[in-house]
Amino acid sequence: MGYKITVIPGDGIGPEIVREAVKVLDAAGEKYGFRLDYTEVLMGGASIDVHGVPLTDEVIAQAKASDAVLMGSIGGDAATSPWYQLEPSKRPEAGLLKIRKELNLFANLRPAYLYSELKAACPLRSDIIGGGFDMMIMRELTGGLYFGERCTTEENGVRKAKDTLTYDENEIRRIAKRGFDIARKRRKKVTSVDKANVLDSSRLWRAVVEDVAKDYPDVELEHMLVDNCAMQLVRDPKQFDVILTENMFGDILSDEASMVTGSIGMLSSASLNETKFGLYEPSHGSAPDIAGKDLANPIATILSAAMMLRFSLDLDKAADAIEAAVKQVLTEGYRTGDIYSEGCKKVGTVEMGSLIAERV
Ligand code: IPM
Ligand code: MG
Repeated sequence: MGYKITVIPGDGIGPEIVREAVKVLDAAGEKYGFRLDYTEVLMGGASIDVHGVPLTDEVIAQAKASDAVLMGSIGGDAATSPWYQLEPSKRPEAGLLKIRKELNLFANLRPAYLYSELKAACPLRSDIIGGGFDMMIMRELTGGLYFGERCTTEENGVRKAKDTLTYDENEIRRIAKRGFDIARKRRKKVTSVDKANVLDSSRLWRAVVEDVAKDYPDVELEHMLVDNCAMQLVRDPKQFDVILTENMFGDILSDEASMVTGSIGMLSSASLNETKFGLYEPSHGSAPDIAGKDLANPIATILSAAMMLRFSLDLDKAADAIEAAVKQVLTEGYRTGDIYSEGCKKVGTVEMGSLIAERV
């Protein structure tokens, strides 16, 4: 069986981590009898350098014609890169927002999981870690502040900027359903995060989520204000199963959740639409400071590739095999620099990819 995969290596460490993910996917394909046909395209800074824009219509068309998209990372150092001299709508990040919108990728899944092998890297005290934690941030990805009207004006010599946060009930309902569906396959708890003590959009969010919850009597629902959630994530992360939230809150909380696992280089993500189609990328950024030095941890991208097999291609056994191979290399003591601790064997990007591919 063959599948069409659009590959976006992107900027910074993107190309080198994607190369390792492809290596692992091919090893899985050989073992489990499927073939992936890859088409590499440009996005972000790499696209700006060639086409002057971070995302072309050709790339959108190519992505739409494929079964899934595998992405590395995009963007550069805002202080030094010429990409950030461009107007905001032409910068690398604008390409990412545009592809999310064009492909209708409204459901962003960001697992935050503490590997028992990596407990030493977790910044929390061991009495807080306890038996570990395992949560899924479900972030709405195509609405809210990111896509509302915005403008910067000047009145009587005073500069003024405006962003708007809008949600309609259909946008809330579809992400809420996804959240409950996923909770059903996990520990059956949804924490819906909002700022309903201040924002109208949050009050609507809460009402719609409560409505959706009626169809899931087996799933526990709790509401939590976003400031409290930020605090609870470091006070007691074990309490969370699925965190369901809007775009901006999800952006912030998912970085926080990844930090408490102590290993942002390990965390994958999936962005899905109404069908099986999805875009898969690591949760971390493009780390331009270590690009091209064989230092980057490819595991987040490799685990994102596993999510792609599971969610978009229904190749669950191959996905399981990749996840097990990642666990195995960790158990055997191999570490890239970001997750290194005393007594382990330090390896580079390429060797980490090869070790995992051999164990699939
Ligand atoms: C993320 C990133 C993006 C976002 C940036 C690069 C626009 O932080 O995927 O979390 O804010 O969504
Ligand atoms: Mg972010």
